Amino acid sequence: MTGHFDPSQLRPIALALVEGEKNLVANLSNLAAVFFHTLPGLNWAGFYLWDEKHQELVLGPFQGKPACLRIKPPRGVCGSAYARQETLNVPDVHLFPGHIACDSASRSELVVPLMWEGTCVGVLDLDAPTTQRFTQEEATKIEKLMHELMGLIWPGKE
Ligand code: SME
Repeated sequence: MTGHFDPSQLRPIALALVEGEKNLVANLSNLAAVFFHTLPGLNWAGFYLWDEKHQELVLGPFQGKPACLRIKPPRGVCGSAYARQETLNVPDVHLFPGHIACDSASRSELVVPLMWEGTCVGVLDLDAPTTQRFTQEEATKIEKLMHELMGLIWPGKE
């Protein structure tokens, strides 16, 4: 494990970045950047969003190498987290059946569903080039932070 997630560093930065801005692409772009640059030892951080028309996840704002555009659930770690609507902390992606290798350097992966009013509308995907990058404690904290952020960034009904 390289480095630790310190919510006292990441949370206020993330909250300040989205404050007063309602544009989803702008907010997801800055959040991808803050996850990528604040959490040590990542090679990819970003979002896949649910495409209702095509019934699959489509690539959203991210930091890292170019990635696969579309993922049909339950394929891959992202599609699996989407289908199960639960966070998946995969310590070694080589042991995860159906893992999609966008960047061959990725060895561990954390995928957090983006929940809005009980529906999964996408996923946050964090990749690391080392195995067992994410502790369960970190995973829970990232999940909680993402849940809090969703209430601020997801387009409401107003
Ligand atoms: N590895 C992911 C695909 C997305 S990339 O890692 C950015 C998966 O198995 O779903």
